[in-house]
Amino acid sequence: MSEAHEKPTEFDLYAGEYDNLIRDPIRERFAASNRFFVERKLQVIQGFYESRKADTRALSWLDIGCGQGELLKMGRSRFASAAGCDPSAGMLQSCSGLEVRLQSSVELLPFNEGSFDFITAVCVYHHVPDEHRETLCREAFRLLRPRGVFCLIEHNPLNPVTRLIVSRTPVDANAHLLTARLSRRLMAGAGGRILKTQYFLLFPEQIYRRLARVEDWMGAVPAAGQYAVFAERAD
Ligand SMILES: C[S@@+](CC[C@H](N)C(=O)[O-])C[C@H]1O[C@@H](n2cnc3c(N)ncnc32)[C@H](O)[C@@H]1O
Repeated sequence: MSEAHEKPTEFDLYAGEYDNLIRDPIRERFAASNRFFVERKLQVIQGFYESRKADTRALSWLDIGCGQGELLKMGRSRFASAAGCDPSAGMLQSCSGLEVRLQSSVELLPFNEGSFDFITAVCVYHHVPDEHRETLCREAFRLLRPRGVFCLIEHNPLNPVTRLIVSRTPVDANAHLLTARLSRRLMAGAGGRILKTQYFLLFPEQIYRRLARVEDWMGAVPAAGQYAVFAERAD
């Protein structure tokens, strides 16, 4: 991890007991552990690349706002390289063994232009103030190679259960959820060409294991708990 952050960020305050703070009885009934939520995101990403007949093992991947690195830990073996960044030094403390950098500014991500083929930001933008969201999108596209893909994953505010869980989760006290439509507008405004939107986490784990195809088939319906928008660097 590089350079110390000058003052603690919101997530530095949560980092020590993050796992406890995101616990919720409905969430726990939905899936046996956090692993399912991470696994589903990786499946959505894998499915996107499979539909384009592309092999993720050839891609360099950056996860913006990687937090404690759960997605990177489970997903890195599927990519040629995997890196993360986050403004919270406290969250990054759980990322040992991962290539992560401290992000000391919202305006500038700590990597060179054109360094990555694929970038994710998972449940990050609802913590980013409105006035900084487009800047963060522009940064993501700056770091992508031409035709590189940015994938923004967010809670779906159109799902009432998602809204209920967010409303009582302490780390989401300052969250402002984004619809997929708003995410697409942000990404397009920042230089992206929208490729796909997929809603997922419709069925609880036990049902999903039997009805995965139905959930995938309903991926265009804005009903599930989260969504992923994929956009490529357009220039
Ligand atoms: C809810 S956590 C999600 C962490 C991780 N992406 C995950 O899905 O487990 C939100 C993360 O976004 C980070 N974050 C907040 N503002 C950010 C910004 N402007 N740029 C990048 N990351 C930010 C926080 O520090 C925190 O680690």
